[in-house]
Amino acid sequence: MALKLWEEKYLNTKEINDLVHDSFTHETNNIAYLKSHRDWVEENKFGFGERAFHYMWVLILDDINNCFGKINACEIGVYKGQIISLWSLIAKNCNYAIDITAISPFEGNVLPVSKISRKIKQLISKKFRNDLTSANFYGDANYSQLCTNIFEKFSCNFEEVTKLVGYSTDPDIIAQSKNHRFNILYIDGDHSFDVSRSDVENYAPLVVPNGILVMDDASMDLEMSAPYKGLPGPSKSAKLLSEMGFENILNVNHNRVFRKL
Ligand SMILES: C[S@@+](CC[C@H](N)C(=O)[O-])C[C@H]1O[C@@H](n2cnc3c(N)ncnc32)[C@H](O)[C@@H]1O
Repeated sequence: MALKLWEEKYLNTKEINDLVHDSFTHETNNIAYLKSHRDWVEENKFGFGERAFHYMWVLILDDINNCFGKINACEIGVYKGQIISLWSLIAKNCNYAIDITAISPFEGNVLPVSKISRKIKQLISKKFRNDLTSANFYGDANYSQLCTNIFEKFSCNFEEVTKLVGYSTDPDIIAQSKNHRFNILYIDGDHSFDVSRSDVENYAPLVVPNGILVMDDASMDLEMSAPYKGLPGPSKSAKLLSEMGFENILNVNHNRVFRKL
């Protein structure tokens, strides 16, 4: 069933949210290349989220390709490249033209081991307190190399991705992004309220009419059986979207899907 049909039939109830989750998980497992990508991500600890999200992205890329004939997709918060490599893989398999932009620091944010350092940082740094409550710590690694690895594993090319290396709140990154327009935007960077709100305010206006915005970790107020529904920051920031001309057309666990009207 195409995204447009889900959009027509979808109701934000516990029963339907559970059905979406179960049916999207089933579909991911039914499509060999999706299953193999997600299996690899899970086996190699290359990303977060749910198996059901893979099928959600197939529906979204298909819808955007039908509507625009070309996909211009941006991810804020790349980590090891699960989602951008998946987009590239779907585009390759379905013969879609795609341009991918990745906004991410491509570096870690390491939680200090020492309890005393943590206590001091907690006292003096609001950012550190936000990072603690929004699970915003990532180990040191060569994230660009890890992205290259997952792209190569699935015979895709990370070189083709436009990288805006840095934090989405950095004025230089915001200024550079202003030159872009996207028909897909995935917000999955810093999950504090301050930064997720800043991402919504700065990047949602870059989404063109009929484009899709997906907000990760944003379903805390929704009814569903899933044990994990996201975090308070993105869940609160997502509420800003209706006043910015976005309609919530579907929810797949803690991924909320909005269409720009
Ligand atoms: C939850 S992970 C992203 C997971 C990835 N989207 C996936 O599904 O596999 C969050 C990522 O956002 C990055 N990040 C944190 N703050 C950010 C910001 N302000 N702008 C862009 N990226 C950010 C982190 O370094 C990390 O790579």
